[in-house]
Amino acid sequence: MKELIQPKILIVCYSYSGNTLALARAIRQRTGGGLTRVFPTQPYPTRFPELLAQVRRELKSRHYPRLLPLCEAPDGYDLIFAGTPNWCGTVAPPLAAYLRQHGGLAGKTVLPFYSHCGGEAGDVAGGIRALCPRAQVGPAFAATPDEPNLAAALDAWLTACGVLHATAV
Ligand SMILES: Cc1cc2nc3c(=O)[nH]c(=O)nc-3n(C[C@H](O)[C@H](O)[C@H](O)COP(=O)(O)O)c2cc1C
Repeated sequence: MKELIQPKILIVCYSYSGNTLALARAIRQRTGGGLTRVFPTQPYPTRFPELLAQVRRELKSRHYPRLLPLCEAPDGYDLIFAGTPNWCGTVAPPLAAYLRQHGGLAGKTVLPFYSHCGGEAGDVAGGIRALCPRAQVGPAFAATPDEPNLAAALDAWLTACGVLHATAV
């Protein structure tokens, strides 16, 4: 185990269909810390055309959905992993709402991660950086649900970011 000063870690994610959540769990397995999920008060439509139309509307109007009060606040944590699916090339509105609700995680270290399908790349990491102008935002991790060598890629990212591998062998 590498000897690093252990920051207090919170992994926060929004996940519509479970892929970002799977990444969040894989990160937690390696880093420890808390894992908390963001839920909008109004669930998104289940049919893709309606979902896409709503997401496009929300992104265009910079709508920040109201969130259920279930998600842990970042207070007291030093390092926040912030996860989202890539939605239309950017941050899903529920995660954006969380970041905004909590002052852009000012003063924290933020490591973005996101799930995508290999479509429009956009700039998810840039979106998180823009939402967290007074945080120290590190390099982002991105993966598709069927990413080959996910474990090795995660380990490499966490090592590059200087995060302790708490449970990795
Ligand atoms: C409304 C919507 C928009 C999406 N836009 C993109 C995109 O622009 N680029 C991309 O690579 N994937 C896009 N995807 C695919 C998701 O990022 C991908 O399925 C991701 O793994 C979903 O994560 P989740 O299971 O945590 O919700 C989109 C999916 C949805 C539902």
